[in-house]
Amino acid sequence: MGQTPVVYGQSSRPPRGDYSRAADDYTCAQNYAAYTAADHDTYRRLYERQSALLPGLASDAFIEALPSLGIKDHIPRFEEINERLYRATRWEIVAVPGLIPEVPFFTLLANRKFPVTDWIRTPAEFDYIVEPDVFHDLFGHVPLLFNPVFADYVQRYGEGGLKAQRLGACEMLSRLYWYTIEFGLIRQADGLRAYGAGILSSSGELAYSVRSPEPQRLPLQLERTMRTRYKIDTYQQTYFVIDSFDELFHLTADDFTPLYERLRGLPEFAADERSPA
Ligand code: PHE
Ligand code: FE
Repeated sequence: MGQTPVVYGQSSRPPRGDYSRAADDYTCAQNYAAYTAADHDTYRRLYERQSALLPGLASDAFIEALPSLGIKDHIPRFEEINERLYRATRWEIVAVPGLIPEVPFFTLLANRKFPVTDWIRTPAEFDYIVEPDVFHDLFGHVPLLFNPVFADYVQRYGEGGLKAQRLGACEMLSRLYWYTIEFGLIRQADGLRAYGAGILSSSGELAYSVRSPEPQRLPLQLERTMRTRYKIDTYQQTYFVIDSFDELFHLTADDFTPLYERLRGLPEFAADERSPA
């Protein structure tokens, strides 16, 4: 799901993209000519199904920003989205062949460049795909990059990632990515909503994450979140909830160096472990 290189570490399959077309920073040109009519149709059908599911389940910020993606009935050109995105928050999207390693990933984010996989899933994967494709990356991640506070959070995450890499703390930090940017929930005045890209691009997990009595939902708390393992191939059994993007930004503003030190000595929580702290 995630544009999280750590997903690699947990996956037994090699990523499917063609990395020979990538530059040193892992970016490539969006291979627009390679899209078939069936690819465009897959995008159109995914967009249509998913956008119909959003009311009452997706965060207002996401629903408001979604039209900024532009064209819905075929795969958009990234440059066309960038004209609006750069004006809105000085972010850009860049094409990549698929998941990329940690350092180039963090470096792109720190420079306000969001890597978007350019290929699309096959019709057989219409309902579920473990690896991110262009639909997950665009539909799930890009709308909230139009939100100034969230956009700044993602850049800070990239900078924090480079630091975590030097400190050997990427696994802990990647859990924060997972439980916020990919699978985060937000408490609005009118109820719980999803803002994580992995939820927003999933037809099944969207309602599950917000409404099902099955998973536990805990307030986002750095230590608990960073100690919690995650599964990449099932619905989450634990979600972490924020009250606002401002809260998320401020909660993560301090230098994590001492936190990493402290967490190193503490046990982890299983993905489905029921325990508040
Ligand atoms: N404050 C974090 C650090 O010092 C960086 C960070 C910001 C990480 C936002 C995640 C999200 O490492
Ligand atoms: Fe993702």
